[in-house]
Amino acid sequence: MKKSNRKLLLGEEEIACRVAELAAEISAEYEGRKVLLVCVLKGAVVFASDLMRRLKIPVEIDFIAVSSYGSDTASSGVVRILKDLDSSIQGKEILIVEDIVDTGLTLDYLRKNLLSRKPKSLKVVTLLDKPARRQVEFTPDYCGFEIPDHFVVGYGLDFNEDYRQLPGIHILNLEF
Ligand code: PRP
Repeated sequence: MKKSNRKLLLGEEEIACRVAELAAEISAEYEGRKVLLVCVLKGAVVFASDLMRRLKIPVEIDFIAVSSYGSDTASSGVVRILKDLDSSIQGKEILIVEDIVDTGLTLDYLRKNLLSRKPKSLKVVTLLDKPARRQVEFTPDYCGFEIPDHFVVGYGLDFNEDYRQLPGIHILNLEF
């Protein structure tokens, strides 16, 4: 029988509990204010849709897609916007929603880019943080789970576009 090439790291219920906790924390902090969630495509779609349904404050949502810089150019930190936000964020309270912070290059770029558009405030929530892989200093304002340096898939995260639909987060063994 073929051995499974993945191992469960975070189950559906554990993720749901943590998402509810994050939503409570964010709702308390932004009480009485409206927040624009900026969902970073594609990986953050699942997290953003679960998180927004748990938030008690009024929210809007918009989407941005950025290019992956690719392994050969990772050290350059060059990130390109493939799909920009639909509207201006000037004067708005912005919460970037990400699935994972790895090297930190994507969020470092996005944070600076969005700050240049003069929002009223800008914070970042990530479901996963892999601090061992950091190339630039970056600390998310809210984080679901710190994880060790393994390749993970599921709950929106992919390997070559596969596995995004898995309800839990799994470590993928790329040697199988
Ligand atoms: C992932 C993730 C972040 C980025 C984090 O996106 O969603 O945007 O990588 O990595 P970094 O901290 O090293 O910059 P990916 O490029 O895999 O695209 P996807 O979300 O469409 O799967």
